[in-house]
Amino acid sequence: MGVSRVAVWKQINALKELGYEITSTPKGYQLAEDRDHLYSWEFSQTRENYHAYPVVNSTMEKAAAEAEKNCPSFTTVVSETQTGGKGRGDRKWISPEGGLYFTWVIRPELPIAYHYIYTLGAAAALCRTSRDLWGIELATKWPNDVYYKGKKASGILTEMKSSGDSLSWLNLGMGINVNNDPHLKSGISLSKIAGRSLDRKEILTSLENNMKNLLRDNNPREIRNLWTRLSCTTGSKVKLQNSHNEIFEGDALALDASGALIVKSVKGKEQQALFGDLYIKKEET
Ligand code: BTN
Repeated sequence: MGVSRVAVWKQINALKELGYEITSTPKGYQLAEDRDHLYSWEFSQTRENYHAYPVVNSTMEKAAAEAEKNCPSFTTVVSETQTGGKGRGDRKWISPEGGLYFTWVIRPELPIAYHYIYTLGAAAALCRTSRDLWGIELATKWPNDVYYKGKKASGILTEMKSSGDSLSWLNLGMGINVNNDPHLKSGISLSKIAGRSLDRKEILTSLENNMKNLLRDNNPREIRNLWTRLSCTTGSKVKLQNSHNEIFEGDALALDASGALIVKSVKGKEQQALFGDLYIKKEET
């Protein structure tokens, strides 16, 4: 083909640096894997405004840089692994290979007061994706998680920049346990639930379509209602720990129009929670 061995070797090395596993054999090079890489050329349809990396510190950082460069809405930054993955409340998000770690740069059309709608929408979109692709019913959990039978399958983190009462950008990061072993005992991977390894490209494509559909009407009430229908939070007995480490126990009633969770204690006192960690208590039998 008129291509020198050195030229081929250089291209092979470039592929290896991107994370492709290639072995050398006496007959030539061999692709030694069937991993679902997330580079744009691996998708059946061309992806625009899409940045895939083998490793980054955090996709949130890369996405913030893209947002500041005026990239369009739904620009996606995805990485195979993260060395400094961020979770909520200054926690780390351990990001081993096989998981799905990405951030969307969203240019919100809703006023800043509705920023919570994007988190609720993304959680609901993942539930729809899992139902559509594998018939598995996941559940939304307040404030930013997706659960399966009491275990965490995905967490969501948002960062935003405002200008007056609107948002210049809202970056929504999702960490989804797909083909990886979850770091925590309280976690579960989608491949474990499905009983086989799953295609992350398919998940990303379906999620994006579902999220765009949910946001199309800019209707916060509709998204709150959908989230509530899918929720394992509302209707459960919960323990809520706020950012001052105060604890409140009671029944999770509903989300109000500001996205706050209303919890009612046994004495009938209602607490409105905007932030915090929530534990769902198992029913005593
Ligand atoms: C949480 O449950 O605490 C939220 C976890 C969010 C993790 C994702 S992984 C992709 C994106 N990049 C990050 O550094 N964090 C989010």
